[in-house]
Amino acid sequence: MGKQLNVGLLGMGVVGSGVCQVLAEQKAAIKARTGVEIAITKALASPYEDKSAIADKYGFSLTTTVEEIFADPAIDVIVELIGKISPAKEFILAALAHKKHVVTANKDLIATHGPELLAAAKEAGVSLYFEASVGGGIPILRTLSTHYLPDTITDIFGIINGTTNYMLTKMVAEGVSYETALLEAQEKGFAESDPTNDVDGIDAAYKMVILTKFAFGMTIALEDIDIKGIRGLSIDDIQQAAAFGYDVKLIGAAQKNDTGSVSVSVGPVLVPQSHALASIKSEFNGIFIKSTGIGQSMVYGPGAGSRPTATSVVADLTELAKHEAEGIVAPFLQFEASTNLASPTEIVDRYYLSWPSNQDLPMAIDDIIDQAVVPQRKINGLNAYITKPINQQLVDDRLSGITGIQMMKVMEEF
Ligand code: HSE
Repeated sequence: MGKQLNVGLLGMGVVGSGVCQVLAEQKAAIKARTGVEIAITKALASPYEDKSAIADKYGFSLTTTVEEIFADPAIDVIVELIGKISPAKEFILAALAHKKHVVTANKDLIATHGPELLAAAKEAGVSLYFEASVGGGIPILRTLSTHYLPDTITDIFGIINGTTNYMLTKMVAEGVSYETALLEAQEKGFAESDPTNDVDGIDAAYKMVILTKFAFGMTIALEDIDIKGIRGLSIDDIQQAAAFGYDVKLIGAAQKNDTGSVSVSVGPVLVPQSHALASIKSEFNGIFIKSTGIGQSMVYGPGAGSRPTATSVVADLTELAKHEAEGIVAPFLQFEASTNLASPTEIVDRYYLSWPSNQDLPMAIDDIIDQAVVPQRKINGLNAYITKPINQQLVDDRLSGITGIQMMKVMEEF
């Protein structure tokens, strides 16, 4: 008899039910290629929800007592798909203390308590994998920790929230309202349980904390990120940006300056229509990487949704199965660099500025407007301009806080 990797499943929602399905379909192929059979043997069920149909279909037992899963000596790995911080954090720490490997898709938790959890896994001599926490079905984290190990990344940026990209695509292509677009994204299972995190850029910011660690080895917190969401973004500005030759996308970006400091941001950005990121529609994500070795590269795929995200979770389980067969434990990431955040004067960007044409700005801004871009066609009763490259300090001193002004960064051409 070959080896078996037994899984205890915590969470049977959109992604959890997908994991049951993907594993059932791929079990034989995984066993053929790794020599190890992966089997969900027990799952945590809420006393208020009947999950017996899914348990019967996939052949595992249910318990309403999580300790029963941790204490089960036959279970090798816990898959945590509950989401949010508590009780997921307590459950993962308990699982690690019982020397069980952990696979999770929980970006909120990894971004907030990743170092503590990774230390607990190391201490216990087990693995903590979380490929599905960034980019849904896209294989980005393992790619960064393996393929980019002999490379030096200078920039990593892209579309890393499926919900908002789905909404922006719908609003532009079909003219649907913000509210309708959000409702559709929720119905399709792309949005978080509280979609505030999606539309306000928090979900993307959690993912940038994780990407910054994998790309630069630096540990940052949400507070270190300049975060804006898409709430309040008007169709007038989206159309004006299009007239300038740009699509508006919610972009997460981390950039290393020549001095070695890193700036990290999340916000709506004007992306040149010629850029590969502009072609990414609906719930798809794209992560663009600039590095000294490969040069420019991009990974692209579904950033949300049951089956793609479940496939990333099962990919982590498959990696564990391979290690089980080899008799090794391998950490997901070993990249430590001291954190060095850029100062406001080091963060330089062009900005799109707009305000109602019947409103006067309280100061002259001619000196920062790019005269090569102005005059442009102005539509929808907006004054709209693109600035010269200006630093964050200047933006804070002169532009932030002006009522009625819309400000978005502008991505440079390739
Ligand atoms: N709510 C997230 C998104 C799910 O829309 O991208 C995947 O992380």
